[in-house]
Amino acid sequence: MKVLTTVKALQHQLKQPDKSPVGLVPTMGALHEGHLSLMKNAAADCPVIVVSIYVNPTQFNDKDDLRNYPRNLEKDLGMLATVLREDDIVFTPDDKEIYPQKDTRVFDFGNLDKVMEALHRPGHFNGVAQVVSRLFEIVKPDMAYFGIKDFQQVAVVRELVRQSGSGIRIVPNPIVREADGLAMSSRNQLLDPARRKEAPVIYRTISAASRMLRKNDIPEIKDFVKKEIERSGNFVLEYFEIVDDIELIPLKRKTEMKDSSKYYGCIAVRAGRIRLIDNIRILLV
Ligand code: PAJ
Repeated sequence: MKVLTTVKALQHQLKQPDKSPVGLVPTMGALHEGHLSLMKNAAADCPVIVVSIYVNPTQFNDKDDLRNYPRNLEKDLGMLATVLREDDIVFTPDDKEIYPQKDTRVFDFGNLDKVMEALHRPGHFNGVAQVVSRLFEIVKPDMAYFGIKDFQQVAVVRELVRQSGSGIRIVPNPIVREADGLAMSSRNQLLDPARRKEAPVIYRTISAASRMLRKNDIPEIKDFVKKEIERSGNFVLEYFEIVDDIELIPLKRKTEMKDSSKYYGCIAVRAGRIRLIDNIRILLV
C-alpha cells in the first residue's frame, strides 16, 4: 500500500491506467474490525481502493468530542497493511489539503437533516457532506463504501450523490459487533470500564424491541427501550425511533408501516460524555 498525504500525489497515483473501478473508503481513523470489513468488501470489488483517514473538524458540533477523538496513525497503518494490496492507497491529508479555503457550503437534505442525529448534533451532516463531497471530488471514485452503523449518514450520502449527479455507487455494509454484541466504534475505547461492561444492553434492548411489534404498538416499544436503557442509571436514552430507510420519517403507530418500505430501529445513548449509536432492521409483522 502507498501512504500519500497530498491531493497532488494522490491524483498522480490514480492516473495509472487499468485501475477501475476505484473504490473509496472514508474514515476518521482509530480503526477497528468494522472499518476493516469495509476495506475487505471494497477490495473484493475494486482493483484499487483509497482509504482516507481524516478527522473532519466541520462535522463535530462538540469541540470536546473533536479534541478527545482517538487518533493513532501508526496503529492504523499497521492494521491497514494486513488488508490492503500493493496498489491500494491510504490518504492522510491535513486540513489545508481538504479545505484550502473555508468551506461555507450549506446543503439541504430535507427531512434527512431534521430527525434523530440531526436534532442532537446540529450541523453534523452538513460537515459530513462537506468532507465526503470533497473526497469524492479529489478521488473521483466509482464506488464508495459506508457502514450501516451510521444509518442516517448512508441516507445523507446517497442524497448527496443524487443531488450532485456524480453517479458514484454507494455500497452499504453491515454492522460489525464485538463478541458481546456492542457495535464496534472508535469511541468505545473512551468508555469507562463499568459502562463498557454494561454497553451490550444497547443491542440487547433493540434486538428485543425488534421482536415486539407483533404484540405492541410503537409508543409501548419506545417506553420499553427507555426503561431498559436507563435501568442502571449509567446510560441516558437520547432517542429510539423506527424509521424507513429512504426518508427516515419516524413512525408514531405501526398502522403507518407500508409493505413496500424497509424499517430500522435507530438508537442513540449517552454514556457519560460518550455517545453511542446503533440500529437494527425491524420486520413488518
Ligand atoms: P468513521 O466513524 O471513522 O467511520 C468510517 C466508516 O466506517 C463509516 O462508513 C462507518 O459507518 C463505518 N463503521 C464504523 N463502525 C462500524 C461497524 N461497527 N461496522 C461496520 N461499519 C462501521 O463515519 C465516519 O468516520 C465519518 O463521518 C466519515 C464518513 C469518514 C466522514 O468524515
